[in-house]
Amino acid sequence: MPIKSICCLGAGYVGGPTMAMIAAKCPEIQVTVADMNEKRIAAWNSDTLPVYEPGLDAVVASAIGRNLHFTTDIRGSIAAADLIFVSVGTPTKAYGIGAGRAADLRYIESAARLIAEVSEGNKIIVEKSTIPVKTATAIKSILAANSPNGATFQVLSNPEFLAEGTAVEDMENPDRILIGGEPTPEGNAAVEALASVYAKWIPRERILTTNLWSSELSKLVANAFLAQRISSINSISALCEATGADVDEVARAIGMDSRIGSKFLKASVGFGGSCFQKDILNLVYLCDSFNLPHVAEYWRQVVHLNDWQKSRFVEKMVRTLYNTVNGKRIGILGFAFKKDTNDTRESAAIQICRDLLSERAHLAIYDPRVSAATIHQDLLSAGVSEELITTNVEICADPYTAVTGAHALATLTEWDEFRTLDLPRIYDLMLKPAFVFDGRAVLPLDSLKAHGFDAFVIGKGV
Ligand code: UDX
Ligand code: UDX
Repeated sequence: MPIKSICCLGAGYVGGPTMAMIAAKCPEIQVTVADMNEKRIAAWNSDTLPVYEPGLDAVVASAIGRNLHFTTDIRGSIAAADLIFVSVGTPTKAYGIGAGRAADLRYIESAARLIAEVSEGNKIIVEKSTIPVKTATAIKSILAANSPNGATFQVLSNPEFLAEGTAVEDMENPDRILIGGEPTPEGNAAVEALASVYAKWIPRERILTTNLWSSELSKLVANAFLAQRISSINSISALCEATGADVDEVARAIGMDSRIGSKFLKASVGFGGSCFQKDILNLVYLCDSFNLPHVAEYWRQVVHLNDWQKSRFVEKMVRTLYNTVNGKRIGILGFAFKKDTNDTRESAAIQICRDLLSERAHLAIYDPRVSAATIHQDLLSAGVSEELITTNVEICADPYTAVTGAHALATLTEWDEFRTLDLPRIYDLMLKPAFVFDGRAVLPLDSLKAHGFDAFVIGKGV
C-alpha cells in the first residue's frame, strides 16, 4: 500500500530538514513533524527556522501548509500516520550503567510506548535516530506489549547520513539511502513502502536494503570511519608542526591516491557535532558489551586523539603567549562545530573557550550564526561559572570588534568569511606582537607572516 501520511517525532536538525525534503518531493503525501518543544514548533512555523541550513528556507516554504505541518499534537499525528519516523534525541548517557558511553534511550522508549498506546491498524515505525544495534528489538517488544487497540507494527531502520551545513544538498542527492527491515513478507513490504517514498527523487540503485542489524550498525560504522580519518590527519598535523611539513600538502598528496580519497582529510582543532563522538562512544560500548575489548580500545583512541588535539591547541596558545593569558583579550572567531550551521553541539570551541577561561583569559567571541544565548548556555554547561562568563566573555557582532585590543586571535570554525578577512586592518587593531592561532587552517600563512603577525596555523611547520 502506498504511504499517504507520514509523521515524524522530533523536529530537530535531522527530523525537520528530512521531513521538509520528503514533503517537497512528494506532494501527495501529508507530512507532519511533531515535537513536544512548543518554541521549536513555533519557530518552524515562523519565518526564522530553528535550524540554519543553506537552502532550507526554500524547501520548507515550498511545502509548508500544503503537505508539510509542524505541530505539538504528537498523539494526533501518530494516530493519523501510516508511517512514523522516530527522530528524537539519543544523547550519551550521563548517569548509571554505561555513563559517558552508552546511548540514553529513554526518549526512544517513551516514543515507542506512546505510539503503541495511540495506534490502530498497521503502522510502519522507522528508526531515524542513531541508536545502538538491536534497539529495533526493544522497540518491537514495547510495541507488541502495549497496544490496547490491536495495532500491528513493522519496525525499520533508516539512518540519516546528511551532514549539517550541507543537509539540503545531501538529501537532494544522497550517496545512498539505507533501509533495514525484517526478512519476512510483511517486513519486505514495509521496506518497499519506504523505498518507494525515496524513489520519488532518488535512483533505485542508490537505495540499499539490508537486515535491521546491518543498517543500525552501518550508521555507527560510517561515522566512526569518518571521524577516524579526521583523528588520523590531526595526529599527523602535530607531526607536521614538529617537522616543518605542511599538513594540507600531505593531505593532498595522500588524497590523490584513489584508494585513500581526498575527502575528510582537513586538519582541525578537532571534530565536533552531535554525532561523531556520541556514535563512536556508542560503538565502543557495544564492543565492550560483546566482550571485544581490543576493538573497543581501537575506536576509543579516535576520541582520545580528538580530545588531545583540543587541549594541545590551548597549550600551544598559552605557551606562546608567554605562559600566561590571565587578563589578556583573545578574539575567538567561530563557535559553531563547522561552517554553515548554527549548531554548537560538541563544538571544539566550547572546550577551548572553557580552558582559556580557566586560565582567566578575556574572550571576545564572534560567530556569524550562533546566538549569544547559545554561547552563554554552552559555556555554562561546560562548567564555566556564570560570574566568569559575565566578567570575561564578550560576544561581538563582527570579527573586527572581537580583535580590537586583543593579544591574540584564534579561528575555531572554518566560516568562508574568515578567508577574506582584511588582515592589515586586523593587524592594526591588535596589540603587538599580534598572535594568530588558526585552528582551521583558513588563513594564508604566508600573508599572515607578510603582514607582521606571529602566526601558528594548525598542521603547518613553523
Ligand atoms: C536526532 C538524534 O538525536 C540523533 O541520535 C540522530 O543521530 C539524529 O536525529 P537531532 O535531530 O540533531 O538528532 O536532535 P535534536 O535537534 O535534539 O532533535 C530532537 C527533537 O526531539 C527535539 O526537538 C526534542 O524536543 C524532540 N523530542 C525529544 C520529542 O519531541 N520528544 C521526546 O520524547 C524527546
Ligand atoms: C556527520 C556525518 O558526516 C553525517 O553523515 C552523519 O549523518 C552525521 O554526522 P556532521 O556532524 O553534521 O555529519 O558534519 P561533518 O561534516 O561530518 O563534520 C563533523 C566534524 O568534523 C566538524 O566539526 C567538522 O569541522 C570536522 N571535520 C570534518 C574536520 O575537522 N575535518 C574534515 O576533513 C571534515
